[in-house]
Amino acid sequence: MPKIPQNVRGARFTGWGTALGHKTVTNHDLSLTIDTNDEWIRERTGIHRRHIGGSTAELSVASGRDALAMAGIAPEQIDALVLATTTPDRTVPATSATVQNLLGLRCGAFDVNAACSGFVYALVNAHGLIAMGAEKVLVIGTDTLARITDWQDRNTAVLFADGSGAAVLEHTQGPGQLLGWDLDADGSAEDILFCDIGGNIQMDGKEVFRRAVRIMVDSAQKSMAHAGVQASDISLIVPHQANIRIISAACERLEIPMEKAAIVIDNTGNTSSASIPLALFDAADKGRLAPGDLVLLVGFGAGMTAASAVLEWGTQ
Ligand code: UT7
Repeated sequence: MPKIPQNVRGARFTGWGTALGHKTVTNHDLSLTIDTNDEWIRERTGIHRRHIGGSTAELSVASGRDALAMAGIAPEQIDALVLATTTPDRTVPATSATVQNLLGLRCGAFDVNAACSGFVYALVNAHGLIAMGAEKVLVIGTDTLARITDWQDRNTAVLFADGSGAAVLEHTQGPGQLLGWDLDADGSAEDILFCDIGGNIQMDGKEVFRRAVRIMVDSAQKSMAHAGVQASDISLIVPHQANIRIISAACERLEIPMEKAAIVIDNTGNTSSASIPLALFDAADKGRLAPGDLVLLVGFGAGMTAASAVLEWGTQ
């Protein structure tokens, strides 16, 4: 991937919001209907509970509305909506069209489907729109995986859930927050994690696990190299929340201590496109980020895709 050219029009976050599925489902709840147990799920995945329910548009509107309110801007001021989702509410139109209408936006809107790497793909695209002249872009990552999960399949039912995270990105006069980025895909691996139209998620968990660590590390290293920073410079790593063991293996290989990782998987499960914004804005809301801190976002997902970005934290 190319390096960001000098003097490009930069952008920074000015507001964010998050939303989770309406109903909380604990590991114990799942153990009442499938052959699993709380101890296995916690130890093998790091998940304690998840939240399911709501459509992709509904959750997107909830997080998007909060992001607009925090940024203090009116819906009609947004120049573009980029919605990352792998679970659109309809095949046609794109769910971003529904969200555009419900939020009262007056701008172009499109979906990005890069599975669990989706939010980083959308964020890089949003920065590109601002580089091309847009002033304010709303970026949302939402997935409602509960709808495509087979709740009798213990290989997948313990992992997946629903959630959304949104951010307002605004053009800034000074340097922008995006210092380096990388988007990857290896379509030859599509059969290890997929969902046919009208079907349920099918997954070779062990193979996904094995590849995930490798492609996360590879993508993160490319972004850091493009940004001209070292792993020791990173204040917070925000990995895709798929399995705590994947996160810890990736952190170990990147030589970033786990204390620097943003973790919400215990409470959220795997929410695909929503997982990185949920973890990032949870860390921000908890005061874990100060202006100037370097943040490394890194995701992987079906495709298989991988995506990462190095951001310099600091709202406008
Ligand atoms: O966004 C990307 C989406 N996907 C992923 O990131 C998934 C990546 N893969 C994983 O997270 C892990 O491979 C899983 C969590 C899916 C599975 O963990 P694992 O450590 O790879 O377990 P395993 O498949 O090797 O199974 C170990 C044992 C087996 O029993 P035996 O053969 O040792 O007797 C399984 O039958 O655990 C059993 N098992 C379960 N037991 C209780 C498998 N699933 C469950 C379950 N509850 N839900």
